[in-house]
This record gives sequence, structure tokens and C-alpha cells, in this order.
Amino acid sequence: MEYIQWQPAFDLGDETIDSQHRELVRILNETYEMMLSYARLPLFLGKIAELKSYVVEHFTYEEKLMESIAYPKLISHRKLHREFVKELIELEGKIRKGKKSASAEVFIFLRDWLIEHIQVQDRGYSALLT
Ligand SMILES: [Fe+2]
Repeated sequence: MEYIQWQPAFDLGDETIDSQHRELVRILNETYEMMLSYARLPLFLGKIAELKSYVVEHFTYEEKLMESIAYPKLISHRKLHREFVKELIELEGKIRKGKKSASAEVFIFLRDWLIEHIQVQDRGYSALLT
């Protein structure tokens, strides 16, 4: 079973944003799978690097979009994005040090954050897109 299963409630109605969110969930699921299957460290770290760069790319896109519609909550939303990237860097560090159980906790954080973020925070600006 997938770590995060895509739910219809995650769809925000913007084709680009929705497909980026699906891709994000797909890569996070792959990363989680690699943790469970004891993937070799270089492969695992490579997957986390892929996740991190996709997350940054997606957040940059979203922030530009929010800027273009003068979204009033842009600054606080951007702060949330930064915090997520910080957690990813923390996860990377824990895995590098072989702290597998500690990384399991980070995965729970990433999953819960992502689901809440898509359903609540991103819905805020996407409702204003036409
Ligand atoms: Fe967002």
C-alpha cells in the first residue's frame, strides 16, 4: 500500500498545481518505500535529493503564482514552505547518520504536513485562481 494515497479531496482544480502535487506525493512515496526496503545509502540519499529539488521547484512555482494574484497570505505561506524544506534537510541529515527510527518520525511529519498543506493552505490561494 502506498504511504500516501491520493484522495479526490487533494485536487484543487488547477491542472498544473494538481499534477505537481501528485508528483510530490509520488516521490515522497518512493522515498518512504526506500526507507522500508533498506535501500543502499547512496540510492536513498539520491531519492531524497530528488524529492528536495522537486519540492523547491514546486514551491517556487506556487509562490510566483501567489505573487501574480497578490495573495494576501503569501508571506506566511512562504514561511510554511521554508519549514518543510528545513525538515527535509533534517531528514537527509538523520539518514546520513543512520538514524532510521528517527527518520520514521520525520516521515510522519512530512506526510501530515503535506496533506494538511494541500487541503487547507493551498486551497486558500487556489480558490482565487480563475
Ligand atoms: Fe503551498
